[in-house]
Amino acid sequence: MSLEIVILAAGQGTRMRSALPKVLHPVAGKAMLGHVIDTARELNPQRIHVVIGHGAEAVRERLAADDLNFVLQEQQHGTGHAVAQALPFISAEQVLVLYGDVPLIEAPTLERLLAHAGPAQLALLTVALDDPTGYGRIIRDARGQVTAIVEQKDATEEQRAIREGNTGILAMPGARMAEWMGRLSNSNAQGEYYLTDVIAMAVADGLAVATAQPEDAMEVQGANDRRQLAELERHYQQRAACRLMAQGVTLLDPARFDVRGEVSVGRDVVIDINVILEGRVVIEDGVEIGPNCVIRNSTLRCGAVVKANSHLEGAELGEGADCGPFARLRPGSVLGARAHVGNFVELKNAVLGEGAKAGHLAYLGDAEIGALSNIGAGTITCNYDGANKHRTVIGVDAFIGTNNSLVAPVTIGDGATTAAGSVITSEVPAATLAVGRARQRNIDGWQRPVKKPKA
Ligand code: UD1
Ligand code: CA
Repeated sequence: MSLEIVILAAGQGTRMRSALPKVLHPVAGKAMLGHVIDTARELNPQRIHVVIGHGAEAVRERLAADDLNFVLQEQQHGTGHAVAQALPFISAEQVLVLYGDVPLIEAPTLERLLAHAGPAQLALLTVALDDPTGYGRIIRDARGQVTAIVEQKDATEEQRAIREGNTGILAMPGARMAEWMGRLSNSNAQGEYYLTDVIAMAVADGLAVATAQPEDAMEVQGANDRRQLAELERHYQQRAACRLMAQGVTLLDPARFDVRGEVSVGRDVVIDINVILEGRVVIEDGVEIGPNCVIRNSTLRCGAVVKANSHLEGAELGEGADCGPFARLRPGSVLGARAHVGNFVELKNAVLGEGAKAGHLAYLGDAEIGALSNIGAGTITCNYDGANKHRTVIGVDAFIGTNNSLVAPVTIGDGATTAAGSVITSEVPAATLAVGRARQRNIDGWQRPVKKPKA
């Protein structure tokens, strides 16, 4: 059956107390609405309609994509009114309604819901709640068939005692929608057009209403304020941590681990506390990540080790390579197999060959460093002249003394050595020693300055 999805995202979210539209508040680094859109995509719908209103421009700008049809709901007159705005664009047999501020909903739950929906059947996602305050209540007849949804504000005492709540997520036959939407009225406690009124209409028209429940109640939890947002964040992180542990990762403390993106992991990976993984991170077998590391858009090959307090972005560590503690690898940093970058070393657009080392306190930018070469402490590639960037190319098995300034563009040949404290401004041929510093002078009988007596 053809499927279209309508995501309601026009509400204001006053309780967020924010200039940012509610649905753009992030969970795990991604806008709540972005999560809902991605989950919607997993269902391969013909089209996704996103109903926007508050902060419409910001939402559209942030999330625009070819498969999304943004529909403006200028004034928010209720969920029924919101869906009605998308109606002119809908032609599918099946229509699924999702909420932009309910980000943890999962595709398998929606697939189960859709399995219950059909041309003569609606499907509602409901949830059993300890405290159903604020939710629409699911009204069932003596045979247990759903007959209506009554909103909290319109409910009788008796109805308010019902603990089965409406999640708001439902699937209905597209062909019937226009007629039902046309019959919605706003004569209720809130003066709104309730999408939930469709249920009683469908029942009156002789359609059946099936129900399904989420695997996990947090899937249908919305975020109305920042406390709820934080709860969703923690739940998401818990789920992400469990997933990785199930794949063979040891997390020293799953409660102190955050994923904000997509991570693929091998087996026997060990991750210490307070590690944040962002963007696309690939972690192969046997990798170890020390505490307090931030790793973004990076690849760690088999057996690589990232020691405590390192920050990696757009970096690749080859097999058995290691960095840190306190290493900073910026975009374009590539460490060959078993290469080593130690503490307080910054790399940017720099490639270290197999087994190359930069043990301490260095800045290597726009550089290519051959296998087995050693970069002394305090070495700086002077790659920027204030206008342009220039490259430093160092051959295989070179030895760069401590505290060198390598003024790029410059080339240092295979097996070359540079003396400590050198400023290297021109090519160093292979297998030579370059001494680029002033010769030491010793001055005999030198008198230290003496302090003037105070007047
Ligand atoms: C709605 C349901 C209620 C359900 C609850 C679950 C109705 C009438 N009620 O109530 O049965 O238990 O959700 O949270 O449907 N929105 C728009 N335009 C509007 C109004 C709302 O886009 O004009 C969007 C909101 O941004 C939000 C969603 O629809 O994402 C739900 O709106 P909200 O006002 O939170 O509905 P509730 O009154 O909580
Ligand atoms: Ca709500």
